[in-house]
Amino acid sequence: MSQRILLTGATGQVGGELVPLLRPLGDIYVPARDEMDLADVASVRRVIQAVQPRWIVNPAAYTAVDKAESESDLAYAINAESVRAIGEEARSINAGVIHFSTDYVFDGKGTQPYREEDSTGPAGVYGASKLAGEKALAESGAAYLIFRTSWVYGATGKNFLRTILKAAAERERLRVVADQHGAPTWSRDLARMVAHVIQQVEKTVPQEDLSQSVMKVKGIYHASGGGETTWHGFAVEAIRRMRERVPEAKLAEVDAIATEDYPTPAKRPMNSRLNCERLMTTFDWKMMDWRDSLREVIAEL
Ligand SMILES: NC(=O)c1ccc[n+]([C@@H]2O[C@H](COP(=O)([O-])OP(=O)(O)OC[C@H]3O[C@@H](n4cnc5c(N)ncnc54)[C@H](OP(=O)(O)O)[C@@H]3O)[C@@H](O)[C@H]2O)c1
Repeated sequence: MSQRILLTGATGQVGGELVPLLRPLGDIYVPARDEMDLADVASVRRVIQAVQPRWIVNPAAYTAVDKAESESDLAYAINAESVRAIGEEARSINAGVIHFSTDYVFDGKGTQPYREEDSTGPAGVYGASKLAGEKALAESGAAYLIFRTSWVYGATGKNFLRTILKAAAERERLRVVADQHGAPTWSRDLARMVAHVIQQVEKTVPQEDLSQSVMKVKGIYHASGGGETTWHGFAVEAIRRMRERVPEAKLAEVDAIATEDYPTPAKRPMNSRLNCERLMTTFDWKMMDWRDSLREVIAEL
């Protein structure tokens, strides 16, 4: 495959992992921010028409969950309006779109892992803007795949694991929320999944029919790490693994606290668990158990 893949958000957690994994699949075009700013829909349309990609992979997003509460316009511009533009331009050139969304589209009150078709009800601006992006992409008529994920982390980037390990090295005790349930998802596992899905789709049809083959599987897929835990459980396991790796390190003990003892501007879902069966049955891909990915990530730190 020698076609172009337009990749956004290459400086982010998922985008950074996608760069080397997409490279064998096509010529990757990574626009600079001054060329394509997702807050500027015209620049999005211009770049897509100039590049004429076969695939558009869009992990870029406004991801500042708390700040979104006071920057609603910007969050919607990046997470919804630009996604509509991506969809419309993709449709006009028959490109396939791979987009990412979040468990924050749900209200988090459910007691089971969420399925793709469960009713949504975001509790904050970030989740609402991501949900608006999902809807905009669906309405655009593009051939698209949306992967909803949760608790993304890795050896680089801004994420809970790195924050907690830094804090654990600086302090004697940490307080971490123990009543929000979910599954940490390794950014590299997500990127591997995307590369696998692109290959699966490409295998099914002749080159000229890409958008038609994506259309056959288009829709939303849940893609979060296997197993489940709480933020407290994640922190405890991360510190335990780190102690194994660096026995001489002095790392904090972790106390379990309730969500109400850690107030944040945006409400967090109590249940972030996602049922990933559809990903398995459609694309034959099982996301890594979070404990296995954590072991690999800690080894890379
Ligand atoms: N992180 C999580 O826990 C989590 C959970 C569920 C779902 N998701 C979703 O998964 C996807 C990937 O998340 P991530 O963790 O990789 O995000 P991330 O690390 O925060 O990266 C976001 C990327 O978007 C880019 N970006 C932000 N504003 C932009 C703009 N106006 N124009 C162009 N690019 C812009 C950033 O560029 P700069 O570096 O230049 O700012 C960065 O490359 C997103 O759709 C996110 O909503 C994430």
